[in-house]
Amino acid sequence: MAKIMIMDHPLIQHKLTILRNVETASAQFRALVSEIAMLMCYEATRDLPLEEVETQTPLAIAKTKTIAGKKLAFVPILRAGLGMVDGVLALVPSARVGHIGLYRDHETLMPVEYYCKLPADIEEREVIVLDPMLATGGSAIDAITQIKTRKPQKIKFMCIIAAPEGLEALKTAHPDVDIFVGALDECLNEHGYIVPGLGDAGDRIFGTK
Ligand code: PRP
Ligand code: URA
Repeated sequence: MAKIMIMDHPLIQHKLTILRNVETASAQFRALVSEIAMLMCYEATRDLPLEEVETQTPLAIAKTKTIAGKKLAFVPILRAGLGMVDGVLALVPSARVGHIGLYRDHETLMPVEYYCKLPADIEEREVIVLDPMLATGGSAIDAITQIKTRKPQKIKFMCIIAAPEGLEALKTAHPDVDIFVGALDECLNEHGYIVPGLGDAGDRIFGTK
């Protein structure tokens, strides 16, 4: 049974407050997206399988744990997901990184795919898909459908802010995917933006508006 986890850590909530503020400039916005992604990654990796190893310390042999198997791949959804990559790689530097390029058509709100490059050994890895915003859910659903064709061990999805509509759509389309959410907001507006949200995540990360 897949899990849905809404973050309640005080550090995440504090950083989210600054992130949402319309006065927060791109440089600080980028840093916060990365920090929140790192904190969320700590939760999203809590169930990684471990195996026992023996380690020679300066004093003795210690029976200790190491993460088992081929480990992780992160897949940011371009553009805004890119802002989360530094933060998660700070915790898991050996992870592979794939990329999926999708943008929402402004009229239809349907995702349009323009790029996909995934690690060659993705079927041996657990994948964590990254996107700060889960609005209608269309982009996340498409990205995960695409990744599933490559048969990874497991897929998780991490977003900083979700709308109830997007969360419902994603969990219906992909009931096997664990979903980690920084904050669950009130609704979508008539333009498909999350309210209260933080505006356009890609534009705020890259300063394009
Ligand atoms: C944003 C966001 C998600 C998508 C969420 O990307 O980063 O990918 O919208 O909306 P949805 O849940 O309704 O699909 P956008 O399409 O603005 O592209 P960008 O990151 O290139 O700016
Ligand atoms: N994409 C964003 O960047 N922000 C929203 O509120 C919805 C989709």
